[in-house]
Amino acid sequence: MTVAWSPSSWREKPILQVPEYPDPGALADVERQLGVYPPLVFAGEARNLKRVLSQVAEGKAFLLQGGDCAESFSEFHPDAIRDTFKVLLQMAVVLTFGASCPVVKVSRMAGQFAKPRSSNTEVQGDIELPSYRGDIINGIEFDETARVPDPERMRSAYHQAASTLNLLRAFAQGGFADLHRVQGWNNDFVADSAQGHRYEAMAQRIQEAVSFMEACGLTSENVPQLRETELYTSHEALLLPYEEAMTRVDSTTGDWYDTSAHMVWIGDRTRQPDHAHVEFMRGIKNPIAMKCGPSLDPDELLRLIDVLNPENEAGRLTLIVRMGAEKIEEGMPPLIRAVVREGRHVVWSCDPMHGNTIKAPSGFKTRPFDRILAEVRGFFAVHRAEGTHAGGVHFEMTGKDVTECLGGAQEITDADLQDRYHTHCDPRLNASQALELAFLIAEQLKAERDEAARLAAAQ
Ligand code: PEP
Ligand code: CO
Repeated sequence: MTVAWSPSSWREKPILQVPEYPDPGALADVERQLGVYPPLVFAGEARNLKRVLSQVAEGKAFLLQGGDCAESFSEFHPDAIRDTFKVLLQMAVVLTFGASCPVVKVSRMAGQFAKPRSSNTEVQGDIELPSYRGDIINGIEFDETARVPDPERMRSAYHQAASTLNLLRAFAQGGFADLHRVQGWNNDFVADSAQGHRYEAMAQRIQEAVSFMEACGLTSENVPQLRETELYTSHEALLLPYEEAMTRVDSTTGDWYDTSAHMVWIGDRTRQPDHAHVEFMRGIKNPIAMKCGPSLDPDELLRLIDVLNPENEAGRLTLIVRMGAEKIEEGMPPLIRAVVREGRHVVWSCDPMHGNTIKAPSGFKTRPFDRILAEVRGFFAVHRAEGTHAGGVHFEMTGKDVTECLGGAQEITDADLQDRYHTHCDPRLNASQALELAFLIAEQLKAERDEAARLAAAQ
């Protein structure tokens, strides 16, 4: 595609899932103000993430991407940020240690506010109102005023993202993520569970290894990798007026970067090749991702790859497959084969959440944990069969002790869902379920790496 791109060229294209603001003047004012606010991330950081993702594309590392389905203004609290960060650290350490594989950590935090919806309206009793679209757009309360899109919400989202990111940076670099503290990352309510014990046993072994290294002179003082970690941010770039306002020219390269997060993705509902979201994403130089649901066919995927990654740069494009446990083993091989045939470099990641959402008899939207595990297993099995790298996972979770997904070692039942169902949108894994998932992924990844080593030795 050679047509000129600008941060606003998406405005000429058809668009889905973007709200109509009743007062365009107020919207333009907020856009103008956001356009001169400080960037949340720097272009150099986005380039670093692209570089480590290229390692994932080459099969040398694994991508762990997770966090809230939707961040909310009302649940904004340092403890929530800390607890989710802890679970990400735990999962990463389980993967690094269990599969001897470097892990790239990307959070769904510090900007994950806008939600695509399958229906434009929500009906309760005989009242029909516009759907809730995330706190950056309108309010979740079922009342007419709350549901009107309000541009001022973009400013609140920006400030919340800025302070969330500030705390995440402090945690990542200020000592909280020091490997010496590996035993302290267990959240209290997990510590006493089967997953908690399994984690504790592994943490003990890591602690011993760290003490051994210390005795050899490798300490947190002289080895920064022991002391700090890198955590990147990501969200769905759905609300294009916000993303456009955050898009700036990088003075060192002259390229455009969306400075609202290190990585942004296109949702499954907005990936039409000639529509606005694809147009916006093709011009920014951040690493980007695209959700691949069951309706995506291989030709369309190749066309999208041409538009989104014309230079075939490894690390630029992550394909997040979310087909559902029943469909992945049939649906993913044709996509992989097309990509391999055309020699395209991508990261393959698995979102086992969005294709496995059901309505429980109690009426709660939920996800059975065994379906989530089944999709992850299917994802690894297909990649093993195709000889490609199962590059990463993408999931919705929280560090809190919620009861939103059915099953897992705690055996959450339909009747339990009402106990602590707090999500603003989709049901999330709780810390214990997230840890259980990490142990399963570590086993699968270790099997993939052992097999690759066996093949290399046989050559
Ligand atoms: C999401 O990741 O929250 C989401 C809406 O996913 P998808 O676009 O895959 O449905
Ligand atoms: Co979701």
